[in-house]
Amino acid sequence: MKPLPIRAAALARRSLWNLHPRITADLPSPLLLKTTRRSHSAGSNALGSGSSSPAAHSSSVNASEISHFNALASTWWDPHGPSRILHLMNPLRHDFIRSCHSSQADHVESASSTSPPRYRYLDVGCGGGIFAESAARLPSTDYVVAIDPSPEVLAVARRHAARDPALTASSTPLSSPTDHASQGRPRLSYLNATIETLPEPASSDDQYDVVTLFEVVEHVDNPAAFLDRCGQFVRPGGWLILSTIARTWMSWFTTNLVAEDILGMVPPGTHDWRKYVNEDELRDFFAAKAGWGNPRVMGVVYVPGLGWKEVSGSEKVGNYFFGIRKDSEPAP
Ligand SMILES: C[S@@+](CC[C@H](N)C(=O)[O-])C[C@H]1O[C@@H](n2cnc3c(N)ncnc32)[C@H](O)[C@@H]1O
Repeated sequence: MKPLPIRAAALARRSLWNLHPRITADLPSPLLLKTTRRSHSAGSNALGSGSSSPAAHSSSVNASEISHFNALASTWWDPHGPSRILHLMNPLRHDFIRSCHSSQADHVESASSTSPPRYRYLDVGCGGGIFAESAARLPSTDYVVAIDPSPEVLAVARRHAARDPALTASSTPLSSPTDHASQGRPRLSYLNATIETLPEPASSDDQYDVVTLFEVVEHVDNPAAFLDRCGQFVRPGGWLILSTIARTWMSWFTTNLVAEDILGMVPPGTHDWRKYVNEDELRDFFAAKAGWGNPRVMGVVYVPGLGWKEVSGSEKVGNYFFGIRKDSEPAP
């Protein structure tokens, strides 16, 4: 094994060489690209024959991404393993969601209300369930449905959740039976599915208060169609929340060269820099559509030894959270 500085220099040379053709061209936003339609090479629809046929939508699934995550399945819950960056990020996800809710003019604080809010979550690309489990344990959660196209990863998620009977128990009935159709549902359920294979919501009862896509957008094909489809599952007044990485020199340096090649913090091949989406591209994407507003962003930086920290302005260069709210339906 070569000493670290020699290895790092060789890797840097290789990575720069690989990157050269990409950065000399003016890379368009992945949200403007349309990749070829693929068949669903991974992820069967666990819901069976829904109203939404897989063929009706361009698939967001990229087979090589799925095989990459399948290979990481067994170590998903090791807090010191390849997914440790995701474990460390989890508390900030909840902080960000809370900040989105509190930014709403019509937000009701649970302590001061007789009927505190109870949220229904759809976690898309849930992986082994780091966020899904933690969300399902919150007292403010009605229930969580979590989906992922990787069968191995989803099997790990199911096995891990089965260790905690509270997660598989039914959601507590809400005070008003007309609020949600949640009675009898487990607090957390997993589906080996994609957003394209889930049946289209027929009414707001089939939609969610919060649809989350944590570290997923940079791994999908057809990200614009993927976001549109995810948006259909947000109820009026609900939130689409995601985390991803800006497409900049700095993010290439930190996520591809340092994190993957030099320090080995995440397995090589985890990230394709060309698929990163900038936060202004997301803002523009939703601004061009009717029915979305109140975009919110939070830049975060990984500090070795300390974990993820919010750093204002860092969303322009690297990792960030983004939230956007679907307009409420006008009062009748
Ligand atoms: C980096 S992991 C993030 C997992 C989880 N969201 C977390 O942050 O703990 C990316 C996940 O996205 C999933 N994924 C890849 N392509 C997807 C797609 N087209 N639709 C939904 N999930 C996808 C992968 O299987 C993998 O579990």
